[in-house]
Amino acid sequence: MRRFLGVLMCASASVLVVAGLQAVAEHPSWAYGFTTPPPPPGSAPAAPAAGGGRGGGGAAQAGGRQGGGGAAADPTLHSLPGTNLQFTRAQIANRFGPADWYPGDHTAMPEIVARGRMDANIIACSLCHMPNGKGRPENAGVSGLPEEYFIQTMLDFRNGRRSSADPRKGNTNLMVNFAKAMTEEEIRQAAAYFGSMPWTQWIRVVETNTVPQTRIQGGMFLRLDNGMTEPIGNRIIEAPENTERTEVMRDPRSGFVAYAPVGSIARGQTLVTTGGNGRTVACATCHGATLQGMGPVPGLAGRSPSYIVRQLYDMQMGTRKGSWAELMKPVVENLTAEDFVAIAAYTASRPMPPAPGTQTAAR
Ligand code: HEC
Ligand code: HEC
Repeated sequence: MRRFLGVLMCASASVLVVAGLQAVAEHPSWAYGFTTPPPPPGSAPAAPAAGGGRGGGGAAQAGGRQGGGGAAADPTLHSLPGTNLQFTRAQIANRFGPADWYPGDHTAMPEIVARGRMDANIIACSLCHMPNGKGRPENAGVSGLPEEYFIQTMLDFRNGRRSSADPRKGNTNLMVNFAKAMTEEEIRQAAAYFGSMPWTQWIRVVETNTVPQTRIQGGMFLRLDNGMTEPIGNRIIEAPENTERTEVMRDPRSGFVAYAPVGSIARGQTLVTTGGNGRTVACATCHGATLQGMGPVPGLAGRSPSYIVRQLYDMQMGTRKGSWAELMKPVVENLTAEDFVAIAAYTASRPMPPAPGTQTAAR
């Protein structure tokens, strides 16, 4: 593994020389689930407390309200197509054992994935990332990641080498806390479990100049479905195909649509496949010919464009700075906010094999 990264390191060294002045891109607020950039550090009033409260804070991003506290839990049972199981809303959003709608879609979950660990305040991985590891735009898809990469990045979260460039992003702070509280064995088990499931098609990219109006809830864009549209601007708007099924039911088979500016996929293709005349480095060298990952390097194809852009910006800002992220430095150094959008529109549009039963275009 060391040798593998060493070879890549040499391949990328020459690029460092070519790279010119470091430009810092405009804050891609949309990718962090906000409409505006964070206030500059030290300015008052402070941003909403990270990791707590409702709205943009950690509690909402962690998956809504917990059942059982205060008002009597709503006993209504909910159903989804293709499963006989039924759950209440409290069960669906239970932080220490959320609904597993389709147990046949995956192998047995390790305890830490299915239920987390209450004594250490570790919320079940399956609440945010779902039992099949599909995740959502405001967190991450974790299935199909190379085990070695998964473990390395968990250690980076733990050791202060991976945090969000946006201090308002409370759920990333929670992720850091989980990595700190987990045992090596729990990390290994989670890496093996999610790594054993291939990444499959889940997101459909649509180029458009106008997008449906949305609201942001817990870091995720939800369509208002009021018939109104607005200019897309330099953003990718990634929303559930079916708001109810994703947001209320946490349906791990109901996918996403990512609206991207007209022309962005083609622009991204040039940057990703050629490096755009030294503006960046062709990604296939390290991420594999089809961008589905290579050795310990994670795949990019078909993954959440919001997630991808957050990582590129975090790396450019230096809040994601693990030893492996060194290899990404010359890649991100000169990228602009427009480049981020183009690159992520292209990578998200790369086809992946479908998962049986997954809804990618249902409304
Ligand atoms: C409260 C929601 C939440 C829970 C619960 C959660 N995570 Fe995460 N996780 C996140 C967020 C948010 C990110 C993305 C951080 C970012 O974009 O800044 C993330 C990212 C990750 C990544 C990085 C993926 C990549 O491609 O690099 C891994 C690995 C991961 N989580 C593993 C886990 C494991 C294992 C558990 C269970 C112990 C877990 N997570 C529980 C919110 C959560
Ligand atoms: C020289 C090798 C190399 C090249 C070229 C390269 N990458 Fe990477 N990339 C890596 C490595 C290694 C990692 C893991 C970094 C870490 O662990 O922090 C990574 C991680 C990433 C991540 C984070 C993935 C995740 O799951 O969190 C993104 C996004 C990414 N690269 C995008 C790109 C894009 C886009 C390009 C081309 C424009 C590119 N990379 C070119 C080596 C490379």
